Amino acid sequence: MITKTIMCPKCKNQVTIEGKPGEKKNITCEKCNTKGVFTFPSDKPIKKADVGPAAIEVNGLTKIYKDLKAVDNLSFNVRKGEIFGLLGPNGAGKSTTIKAILSLIRTNSANIKINGHDIKTDGVEARRSVGYLPERVSFYNNLNPLQTMHFYCELWGVDKSIAKPLIREVGLEDAIKRKVGNFSKGMVQLLGVAQVMIGKPPVYILDEPMGGLDARWVKTIREKIKYLNEQGATILFSSHILSEVENLCDRVAIINKGKLIAEDTVPNLNKYLQIKPRLEISILGLNGKVPEEIRKMKGVESVNAEGDILYVTCESSIRIEVIAKLKDLGYNIKDIITIEPSLEDAFIKLIDKEEGGN
Ligand SMILES: Nc1ncnc2c1ncn2[C@@H]1O[C@H](COP(=O)(O)OP(=O)(O)OP(=O)(O)O)[C@@H](O)[C@H]1O
Ligand SMILES: [Mg+2]
Repeated sequence: MITKTIMCPKCKNQVTIEGKPGEKKNITCEKCNTKGVFTFPSDKPIKKADVGPAAIEVNGLTKIYKDLKAVDNLSFNVRKGEIFGLLGPNGAGKSTTIKAILSLIRTNSANIKINGHDIKTDGVEARRSVGYLPERVSFYNNLNPLQTMHFYCELWGVDKSIAKPLIREVGLEDAIKRKVGNFSKGMVQLLGVAQVMIGKPPVYILDEPMGGLDARWVKTIREKIKYLNEQGATILFSSHILSEVENLCDRVAIINKGKLIAEDTVPNLNKYLQIKPRLEISILGLNGKVPEEIRKMKGVESVNAEGDILYVTCESSIRIEVIAKLKDLGYNIKDIITIEPSLEDAFIKLIDKEEGGN
């Protein structure tokens, strides 16, 4: 319980109220009868800690399926209070790693802890603090979202009144009476996000939460992840699209063929990988001619032209300068598209580097 003394904005009388973190309270001034609402601040976010037990510790994880080493001696730590991205192309071993953390599969070797609890010796306690969104979310087709959420509230032992606000939070209120069996993939995914939030776990493990969703849903899920993190939750999520994790993750681990290739912050990885976006600039009357002034600009890696499209690969920081320069030179810009480098591009660079290339 938090006790707060508030001054009435009208008569300056002091009103003392009590409430829980995040609770909204109606207040009436005893002196002048002015009414208002006060929201108690949420629990303080957990400080992103470099020290102390990590939220998730993975050490020496190996998983072999018959003759395939899906995960090969993988180790990484997710610190408390951070958003951590597990990145890798299809088949890299992301889902296998996540399933191993949650003890959903047997491993060949692994030392894994969640919030300091060893998943082998203290599995129930370890999993109690985790909300898991699987890669392929599925629900009972004949239930509507509200019935589905009520079902999970019962499983979590949580009051059902939380169901409707959560459905609203993920933007599914208009579909509240429709059967989940008729939902699109994105809608099922969003219901999955609402479901995973029921127990307010301190750690979320989300396997490709944005996989296959259109931009609007991706935005909703990104905002949800940010919000949960601001409330203090630690989040581990997997993705194979670099742009999905940029500006969202505190740190990322890149895995390929079951092996850890890099573990760092996104800006550091960008620097390390030297991944540059490509601009596709549509210019009226360009006719395949490359402006030499752009080629000479510092930070521009390559420039070429095809018809009225100019392709510029350059450092993110000089994108605006490139456009401004073209305008100064009198080019008539009709459209600009930025193509973010794919993780596959980054991998090719990384593998090249590891094999002694540039
Ligand atoms: N049950 C299984 N039996 C045999 N092989 C499996 C099994 N599950 C996964 N694999 C293989 O292990 C490798 C890693 O798979 P995993 O699903 O972990 O990759 P991922 O990084 O999650 O890929 P995606 O991005 O496609 O989801 C793949 O080669 C996959 O075919
Ligand atoms: Mg997967």
